[in-house]
Parts: sequence; C-alpha cells; structure tokens
Amino acid sequence: MSKLIITGGETLRGEVRACGAKNAVLPILAATLLADGPVTIGNVPHLQDVTTTMELLGRLGAQLVVDEKLNIEVDPRCITSHTAPYELVRQMRASILVLGPLLARFGEAEVSLPGGCAIGSRPVNLHIKGLAAMGADIRVEEGYIRARCPRLKGARIVLDLVTVTGTENLMMAAALAQGTTILENAAREPEVVDLANCLNAMGAQVHGAGTDTLVIDGVDRLHGGQYRVLPDRIETGTYLAAAAITGGCVRVKDTRPDTLEAVLVKFEEAGAVITTGPDWIELDMQGRRPKAVHIRTAPYPAFPTDMQAQFCALNAVAEGVGTITETVFENRFMHINELSRMGAQFQLEGNTVISTGVAQLTAAPIMATDLRASASLVLAALVGKGDTVVDRVYHIDRGYDCIEEKLGSLGALIRRVP
Ligand code: EPZ
Repeated sequence: MSKLIITGGETLRGEVRACGAKNAVLPILAATLLADGPVTIGNVPHLQDVTTTMELLGRLGAQLVVDEKLNIEVDPRCITSHTAPYELVRQMRASILVLGPLLARFGEAEVSLPGGCAIGSRPVNLHIKGLAAMGADIRVEEGYIRARCPRLKGARIVLDLVTVTGTENLMMAAALAQGTTILENAAREPEVVDLANCLNAMGAQVHGAGTDTLVIDGVDRLHGGQYRVLPDRIETGTYLAAAAITGGCVRVKDTRPDTLEAVLVKFEEAGAVITTGPDWIELDMQGRRPKAVHIRTAPYPAFPTDMQAQFCALNAVAEGVGTITETVFENRFMHINELSRMGAQFQLEGNTVISTGVAQLTAAPIMATDLRASASLVLAALVGKGDTVVDRVYHIDRGYDCIEEKLGSLGALIRRVP
C-alpha cells in the first residue's frame, strides 16, 4: 500500500485547477445505460472510482472509448448483462447507481447489496422503497437486490430522508417510466442537478432539479449525446482548506463558486479573505492563524458533510474553541483519533466534536480510514512539525486526482512512496 510522506511547515501559494466532480460523474456514467445511443462525457476526473465504474459498465456489456483528454464515450447498445457483481460493488458503494437505469431500460436488474463503509451502515432501503412504489417487484436475497418490472410507472414518492444517490437512482428510473413521477424531499446537491441536466440533454423531462421536489415526465426512449461534468466542489474546498491551514494564498480555477457558498462563509469566519470570479475562487489567509469555527453539517445548501473532516483539521490548529456537529452520517469522526495522535485537542460528545486549537501539531504515523478523512490527515500533515507518514492512501486516490502533484505545485513538501 502506498504512503504519502509530508514535511510540514510550508506556506502554500499558487493556482490549481479543479477536476470534474466525482459525485456527478458516477451517476452520469450510470445514466448512459438509459440511452439507445452513445453518450460522450467530458471533464471526467482520473480517479479510482471512475475506473471501477467503467469496469462495471464494461462487465454489463457497454463499449467504452476513452480519449487522451479522458473524455469517455459509453455505447450502451450491446448490454448483455444486468448484474452488478459483489466484487465490484464491494469496491465502490456507488455501483448501486446502476440499479435504477438497468431496471428502467431492461426491465430487470441484479445488484449486490452495497455493504456499509467506515463512515456508516449506508442502507439503501429508500432506493428500494422508491422503485417498489414505481411498480418494481424488488427483493433482497442472498446479498443481492433483485428487481424486475416490464415498465415502471410514475408515482408520487416522499423520501423519508434526504438521500443523494437515492434521489439520483429514482430520478434515472423515472426518466423512462410510464407517466409522471413526483419526488418529494429530494436532494438538492449540485451533483443531482448535473445528473438532471445530463438526462435532459439525452431527451429526458426532469423538472425542479435543485429544489426538494422533482417532477419527472417519463419518456419512451433516451438518445445519446454529449455532456460535460461540473467541477468538484469538495476537491475545490479541500485545496482552499490547504491555503487556510498553512496561512497561504491559493486560487482554484475551473470551479463553481456558487456550489460552495456555505463553505466559503465558514472560511471567512475563520479569518480568510475570499475573492471569486465566474469560474475561480481565491482564498488568502494573509499569513494569519485561522480562527476556530462552529459547523453543523446537513444536506445542500447547508455545510456539506464531505467537508467536515477538512474543517476538523483546520479547527485543530485554529485560535480558540470550535465545534463541529455531523448530522448526516453516524460514524464520520474516525479522523479525530488520527489527528489526536498529532497533538490535536478534541473532545467527542455524541455527534459533536469540540476542538481546542493548538499552535503546533507534531508529525506522527497516521492512517487514512475513508476518503475525506484521509484528506484531513494530509491537511494536518502540511502544518505538522516534521515528516508525517500517511498510510493507506488508496482512500485518497478514490477522490483526489494527483493530490501530491497539485499540493507540490503549491509548495508543499510531499512525496508518495510505495
Ligand atoms: C452521497 O452518498 C455521496 N456519494 C457521499 O460522498 C456524500 O457524503 C453523501 O451523498 C451525503 O452528501 C456519492 O454521491 C457517490 P445519502 P449517499 O444517501 O448518497 C441515509 C464522498 O466522500 N440513507 O445522501 O450514499 C444514510 O445512511 C462520499 O464523496 C438511508 O437511511 O448518501 C445517511 O445517513 C462519501 N437510506 C443519509 O441517509 C437510504 O436508502 C444520507 O445518505 C439512503 C440513505
């Protein structure tokens, strides 16, 4: 397993480019299964999860062509299988996103039940309940979700909880259903909107994306087309956090400031000077130590859970006492123990972590446990005294494209060792 070795103490300055959003490209790749012609997707990030999804689409029989700019053309005209096998779903929970498209396009789907992961049990009961409401005969047996339905029917579905991939799965299924589906309490994340825009470019009739009520008028077929994925707001926020924690100044280009408002407000509360343009955000910490902030994660447009770990690292070295409450996942504080090994002062009370900022963290061998937790460990290592070894960086590679090159280009002393 490769490791990252980071020598702390450098102030990060410069520009990086945001890649396409992982959590938009995954559902959009799944949506290609709905089309009766090739779909070309642009701005695809070079991530392990994208590779896994391409492997899954290939297993189903789709033909994939990737060009040198990593544009992916998926031709779903010769799908031969409707089964997403355990060994692929085990690697990536987001494989559940092929369930709705396979069922809607081919009338049947068999998807291994995605296990939990480090951050929580991650049930998919709402995906199943919604598809059943649309007429699917759907059951869970022998670790697989097995669904059949000659043609799904539009339904009015009220989601008990705001679920991002649940909203996406049901939106994709409804696109080819007979009649209209109304999805209440839908997720409003920008990645959900990106999927809706992609489906509409393929001939779907999805209305209300970005609000909590989606109205989807089912159509008989979706054609192929082209779509460019929106920039990754979490990758963007992570590089801005690298500037904030090291007292530096970083501009992230090719990004969307409008998708990060709740996070930018917190950076300003921490003392950063934020300036934005149509497709860039600059964070200037002006050499100051951050001030501790109070955060409560919640579904979009509130503060995103995927930025929680990064702000735990920021609060760890900030001036004063901060509190971070995690309301989305039940076990998303694994990074706290690792950061404490570097000298961070945290107190965990239920789903809230109280931090008392320390002026200096010290390097220690630490281990990544999940994607965003590993990003927070890298951020802490950037200001840790000495060389920090971050182990199990395969977690990082799932969500960050070339993290050591990008941080290195900003002045970080970081290298990957096998
Ligand atoms: C998506 O996960 C993202 N993944 C996650 O990003 C992100 O943290 C999460 O949304 C919240 O924003 C992708 O988009 C691929 P949920 P998802 O369904 O859809 C409960 C990352 O770091 N729930 O919105 O799986 C669930 O347990 C990843 O990039 C049910 O109870 O999350 C959780 O408590 C991590 N039943 C809450 O809802 C269901 O059927 C929100 O989960 C579905 C969800």
